[in-house]
Amino acid sequence: AYIRLVRGLTDLEEELAVKLRLERVVIIPGDSQADAAVQRELGRAAAGVLSQYLGDNMTIAVSGGSTMATLADAVQFSAPGTTVVPARGGLGEQVEYQANTIAARIAGKLGGRYRLLHIPDGLSEEALEAILASDGNVRAVADMIKRAHILVHGIGQAAQMAARRGLPAETIREITARGAVGEALGQYCTITGDVVYVTNSVGLRLADLTGIGRVIAVAGGSSKAAAIVAVTGAGGQDILITDEAAARAIQGII
Ligand code: G3H
Repeated sequence: AYIRLVRGLTDLEEELAVKLRLERVVIIPGDSQADAAVQRELGRAAAGVLSQYLGDNMTIAVSGGSTMATLADAVQFSAPGTTVVPARGGLGEQVEYQANTIAARIAGKLGGRYRLLHIPDGLSEEALEAILASDGNVRAVADMIKRAHILVHGIGQAAQMAARRGLPAETIREITARGAVGEALGQYCTITGDVVYVTNSVGLRLADLTGIGRVIAVAGGSSKAAAIVAVTGAGGQDILITDEAAARAIQGII
């Protein structure tokens, strides 16, 4: 029975890879939103996939979020030549879930280095341009991010992420009214993959992912199914690491 179960997930992995147009989908059994042990497994699976693609002296860009925090918990190999950078500047998350924190934690586990972005949230485009023009350190990190060999990022439900990042109620209503269901890297996407709202910051946008060697998304739980379809639909994604609950719900959508 166990072998049939695993075989069933392998079929589902292949089916979703074709439907979501991804190079690879990895599905772990269970529901990470209902069970903290499964969420830890999702982090372990993501750390395992990361170790498969990580070569010498690579730069890894990472997003924030609770799922990415479980990846940081699970890293148990060393890669001392690695540099870890946050994929984006601040998005208004609590410190444990900020990309800077996750980057520093993963770098510590790998025995590598990190470079962080110290950019306040909610700056205007002009203010960001002014920082980039005047601060060589921010510019250097922004360049490293855009040339990362690997990006690993979480995916969230649009309305939930907008609220968690403390966006004003009016903005949350606007994001929802525009049909956004998924969020990654501060970009809010509709089920057909259109980006309808962007949080200003320095770093990667979904449109820049073609310059990144490999893009790995990590997200589980059935309530994230539409969000996963939305973000993968926006393009640039290579590998999805998810759980059975999300995978079966995605199957029902596409
Ligand atoms: O952008 C997506 C979020 O970082 C996902 O956060 O892993 O806590 O659900 P989460």
